[in-house]
Amino acid sequence: MKKKYSVLVPLLCLFTVKAAYCQQSPVTNVGTVTAVKIDQQKVTIKTTNAFAEVDVYTPSVIRVRIDKQPLKADFSYAVVGQPLSPKVQINETDDEVDIVTDSLKAIIHKKPFAVVFYTTDGKLINEDEQGLTTTWVEQAVTTYKKMQDDEHFIGLGEKTGNLDRKGNGYTNWNSDVYGYSISQDPLYSTIPFYIGIHHQLNYGIFLDNTYQSDFNFGASNNRFSSFGARGGEMNYYFIYHKKVADIIASYTWLTGRMPMPPIWALGYQQNRYSYYPADEVMRIAHTLREKRIPADGITLDIHYMDKYQLFTWNKGRFPDPAGMNAELNKLGFKTTVIVDPGIKVEKGAAAYESGLKDDVYIKYPDGQYYTGQVWPGWCNFTDFTNPKGREWWRKQVKFFAESGVSGIWNDMNEFSTWGQKAPDNVLFNYDGHLTSMLQAHNVYGLQMARSSYEGAVEHFKERPFVLSRSGYAGLQRYSALWTGDNRAEDDHMLQGVRLLNSLGVSGVAFTGMDIGGFTGNPTTNLYIRWMELGAFIPYYRNHTALNSKAAEPWTFGEDALDIVRNYISLRYQMLPYIYSTFYNATQNGMPVMRSLAIDYTFDPKVMDVAYQNQFEFGDAFMIAPFESTKDYGKVYFPKGTWYELYTGAKEEGGTAKTIDLNINKLPVYVKGGSIIPMQSLIQSTAEQPTDTLTVHIYNGDTANSLVYYEDDGKSFNYQKGDFYKRTISLNPQNNSITFNAAEGSYKSHFRFIKVMLHGFDQTAAVKLNGSPLKLEQSSFSFLGAAANTDPQGSAYQAESNPVKCITITNDQGKIQLNY
Ligand code: GLC
Repeated sequence: MKKKYSVLVPLLCLFTVKAAYCQQSPVTNVGTVTAVKIDQQKVTIKTTNAFAEVDVYTPSVIRVRIDKQPLKADFSYAVVGQPLSPKVQINETDDEVDIVTDSLKAIIHKKPFAVVFYTTDGKLINEDEQGLTTTWVEQAVTTYKKMQDDEHFIGLGEKTGNLDRKGNGYTNWNSDVYGYSISQDPLYSTIPFYIGIHHQLNYGIFLDNTYQSDFNFGASNNRFSSFGARGGEMNYYFIYHKKVADIIASYTWLTGRMPMPPIWALGYQQNRYSYYPADEVMRIAHTLREKRIPADGITLDIHYMDKYQLFTWNKGRFPDPAGMNAELNKLGFKTTVIVDPGIKVEKGAAAYESGLKDDVYIKYPDGQYYTGQVWPGWCNFTDFTNPKGREWWRKQVKFFAESGVSGIWNDMNEFSTWGQKAPDNVLFNYDGHLTSMLQAHNVYGLQMARSSYEGAVEHFKERPFVLSRSGYAGLQRYSALWTGDNRAEDDHMLQGVRLLNSLGVSGVAFTGMDIGGFTGNPTTNLYIRWMELGAFIPYYRNHTALNSKAAEPWTFGEDALDIVRNYISLRYQMLPYIYSTFYNATQNGMPVMRSLAIDYTFDPKVMDVAYQNQFEFGDAFMIAPFESTKDYGKVYFPKGTWYELYTGAKEEGGTAKTIDLNINKLPVYVKGGSIIPMQSLIQSTAEQPTDTLTVHIYNGDTANSLVYYEDDGKSFNYQKGDFYKRTISLNPQNNSITFNAAEGSYKSHFRFIKVMLHGFDQTAAVKLNGSPLKLEQSSFSFLGAAANTDPQGSAYQAESNPVKCITITNDQGKIQLNY
């Protein structure tokens, strides 16, 4: 029967030309390999339908490129890591090409062309779905990977939904999504990088293609996971390491890491849409100081501009911006201003005319300017993919330097226009590779943030802070990212946690969300919970929309203020720890805010929706956020020992526990083995803490260490070695705590180190560099430090934690403690 059919079909085709089954398939497969060229670490391949290249970048990173036409010259806005010269063995047989590195083995099957990745000891990590492999449907190219048994997926940047992305599909097309829903997709930015997990193995895949891209993690199918784009070439990097943290390190080696931010950006930022006039800005600043709410930043939204025209100040509202910013500086505040890409079309306006003169605005193919509406009305838009456009923008940034601004907040850079349908046919320079909106759209925000960052580095005398709403892979090199116009709702707070955790997995260490919610008004409890949580979020900024109620910490009553002040104060005491954690992110890409899936990847509980919102803040803290309406919640403790932050009560890992929730306290736990350097309470980073660094050490079962880092917090001198860095380690096996000799030319601010020992119940004495020292008994309270300093007195009664401690001199050389 079957045989008869196969003879019949060609016959039918001959006679029934229009029959559907004999038309050419609209789906083209990559086909079989017809030629192979091996050149050191690169394999160049011709298949029946395509051209491909498999290139070994490092022992753990292999790049795969496939196109229907010969591969074009390489160009990427995301990738900065260039191929190293790793040790590679490549062998070809009739059926396959084998690539072996020190870390993995890739087999390129020839019939059909399909790539399969193994560990060096032969465990299957990831394989092309043999029937589907890489396929084009018209211009859209997709690579299909076989869905492995019990495979799970994390990452993909700013994506809503669960931590585990299995069963879902996502699209990347940067969008302005005011008041988005908690299942909405896409949002503002594109990071086409995810991590797959199965059989105690994990790998990363980064699709570097800026066209609209689509990812499928088993949505509506049980056969494959897939990634692809609506145009351009298949261009992905496969990353294999044993640990997720190392995958993130390789991904950020490839796409870059954040530079050291100014320390003031890690303090509390007060924001709303919008603070004006100048008197109101000063009132906010003074009130923060009067009420002893530590803060470092005030942010100005669009109303500081004259008719929303970029690079202007509304002189009625801000008659002397430089004077105002200088006064803010004296009070210990830095000013961040918003910029949008749309520049008001207005004859005679200086910045607008200068952009026309320098020919930087986006045009239609017939040479007319593209004009779209945003806040100022009709606008032109700088082509940030044009080196000339970026140069022009960098020059404009001088305007902010002259008025004493310290931070640039890039908004609406998806880019957004009223109607949200900017035409496909407008042209972009794309750094000399002329293209249309289809390819340039998703990198527009990245290139704007880059231009702002580079301009600020050039013109501000100090390290700038740059924030962006939109972005593409690699944005961490220039900017922090926040998740746009969320809602003042409980599930948005929790969704926000997952968005930031996912961004962290995807290489963005410096992230934030509008704390308190952008649209709508939070209940008092939600506001309190969110502000507590903010103390453990990399970018701690309270923001709210134009027509919502005021949301400064004093606007929800005295009790709320006391609680919120406690957490902002805690944030400031934690700054040495937070700054060190940021430093480490600049070195290895590890996010500051971390999904538990990074450290406890193979513990299935961390993917459980009941626990998926728990996260780590740096190495030490685990936060368990719950809806503000709940009276109790269930917390999961991964393996190890955990200490409740406020009481020091111990919890054993591998267990879950129902806890009472109390609005005064965010559930926070410290991992056994943690090292947490802290300082005395200050009201802004412009103020000096006392000269004692308090280092909290929590007993644990395994050795642990922290790279402590300090510098002047503002200049670029750290790049020339002017920093103070030392590894602090705990080794329970030989009862030792070691401060390695300090590196760098910076002199630590701290003359003394107070070591606080938590959970060392049996320890009665310690030796300092061999000489015995008596431990003192002390008590410590993580909350309520502000209670002692608040002139009005705080209603909050702090719980204190009995601890043993010693104070030692902060010697630059090695300090050895034995307990
Ligand atoms: C956008 C931003 C928001 C800002 C507003 C006005 O909605 O996401 O943060 O306040 O524009 O500039």
